[in-house]
Amino acid sequence: KQETSAPTQCVGPDYKPDRHKPTATVSTDVDFETVTVLPQTPQLIALLTKIRDVQTERGDFIFYSNRIIRLLVEEGLNHLPTVEHTVTTPVGRPYAGLMFQGKICGVSIMRAGEAMEQGLRDCCRSVRIGKILIQRDEESAQPKLFYDKLPEDIAERWVLLLDPMFATGGSAIMAVEVLKSRGVPEERILFLNLIASPQGIKNFATKFPRLRVVTAFVDQGLDEKNYIIPGLGDFGDRYYTI
Ligand code: URA
Repeated sequence: KQETSAPTQCVGPDYKPDRHKPTATVSTDVDFETVTVLPQTPQLIALLTKIRDVQTERGDFIFYSNRIIRLLVEEGLNHLPTVEHTVTTPVGRPYAGLMFQGKICGVSIMRAGEAMEQGLRDCCRSVRIGKILIQRDEESAQPKLFYDKLPEDIAERWVLLLDPMFATGGSAIMAVEVLKSRGVPEERILFLNLIASPQGIKNFATKFPRLRVVTAFVDQGLDEKNYIIPGLGDFGDRYYTI
């Protein structure tokens, strides 16, 4: 398995000299223009440190994951189209602003992706959310589509695809194939995830050059069981069960 070395950097606000900033491991850089990595701020690094820690118990894991999910959704929404929109304020003055254009929906890859649904609902009132269940086929060991329930007008919507851990990219690739087969063009899909592997990013961005990815962090690689390293273990288990 390929593994990159971990980049470290002084983390903190620009006005502070580096000697007054702590050093931490930050995301690996990515070369694909379609992939956005969240700014490596002290907040984000501290939140990720919490959820990576094997000692973090379930309540805290949920709380801190939800905060990162919120940051991902807020950044994801910046990639959707807006149009100019002027309003009048209560003091009778115009304000030349913007408004969102176009309908959206979320699609979670079950089960871990469902953990990201609330973060999307918190930002987009009454948002429609579909689901896709993909599991490894026992015989072929390849990802297999077991179930999907998607809004009937999904072809007219922007789709925010939700899955927290972007490991090999196998499930995400299959989920995108399902969305494309329902008429959603690649350029109207945005894939949001917390931690990605360099391999997953490369597979995906090469296969879907017009699809945008927003991630909080790109890690070093995958282990022999295709867990992301250093990663955080099994996201679904930590969020839902342990
Ligand atoms: N899914 C997880 O939950 N964790 C990983 O590291 C990879 C896939």
